[in-house]
Amino acid sequence: MLQIPDHKIPIVEIKTDFDVRIFIKREDLIHPEISGNKFWKLFFNVNQYLESKPENPLLISFGGAFSNHIASVSAFGRQFDIPIIGIIRGNELGNNWQNNPTLSKASKNGMQFFFVSRDDYQDKEKLTREFSAKYPKALIIPEGGSNDRAVQGIQYMLGNDTKDFDYLCTAVGTGGTAAGISKFAEDDQKVIGIKVVRDDSLENLVKQWSGRDNFELINAGESRYGKISDENVRFINWFYQEYEIPLDPIYTGKMMQKIFNLAENGFFPKGSKILAFHTGGLQGIKGANQFLESKNRPLIDFEM
Ligand SMILES: Cc1ncc(COP(=O)(O)O)c(C=O)c1O
Repeated sequence: MLQIPDHKIPIVEIKTDFDVRIFIKREDLIHPEISGNKFWKLFFNVNQYLESKPENPLLISFGGAFSNHIASVSAFGRQFDIPIIGIIRGNELGNNWQNNPTLSKASKNGMQFFFVSRDDYQDKEKLTREFSAKYPKALIIPEGGSNDRAVQGIQYMLGNDTKDFDYLCTAVGTGGTAAGISKFAEDDQKVIGIKVVRDDSLENLVKQWSGRDNFELINAGESRYGKISDENVRFINWFYQEYEIPLDPIYTGKMMQKIFNLAENGFFPKGSKILAFHTGGLQGIKGANQFLESKNRPLIDFEM
């Protein structure tokens, strides 16, 4: 079972010249491998499943080749000695997953892969039906780990230490994290989700999960999920030198650059206190650098 950690998660101020104050909550430090929001999204999902004492527990989940969720689920499997099947997007990876840092680590953690074509991967309902017919007792966790139970788990990212902020910010992929923050925020707090994927259905999804409309979703700027710009890599490197806080290029780096951009452009009223959640994802830096190097592009100059 995942336990609520007893170490305190630090909130650190990011000193800037803006007329607002920016802070970051280091949820990435919650667990060395089940990092950030993934820990909380898994929390009720896996604990309720294990509480039901399944005879032969098995976890099944989905993800892309660099997925933080796949990394976290596999680490969970290793820690609790539970077999895990990862349904992985892209059957071209079937022959060379060993070169992919996320997948090779997941395999060392004991994850078994089932590679599917990008087309088949689109129909996750069908895949879920097929896998639950084959493994009726397995816990199947959706892509990105987002569902009602995941949204419930996000409540633990909030507490007395987060009540004093005017804005709560997070990167948004599948929407569960933003929905949880929205659901459990104080009445006078506003939630800003920075979307790293262009998906117009996310607003409705977040609203459904959260039941509130205290949030706004803003595009990070890139045209598609996973795209890494040189500008963002430079920002991440500068941020690390300046504040000694590592950010990843898929979620938290984009979120923080956008928050800086919004602060610079007067989006937040003067004097606002803004809290950004560091949701982890640092395991993805190795794979991102591998890709950037192959294209002769600037690299993230630290690796975790
Ligand atoms: C590092 C990181 N930040 C943010 C997110 C976005 O969370 P969600 O998919 O709940 O929107 C994810 C995806 O889980 C992630 O891996």
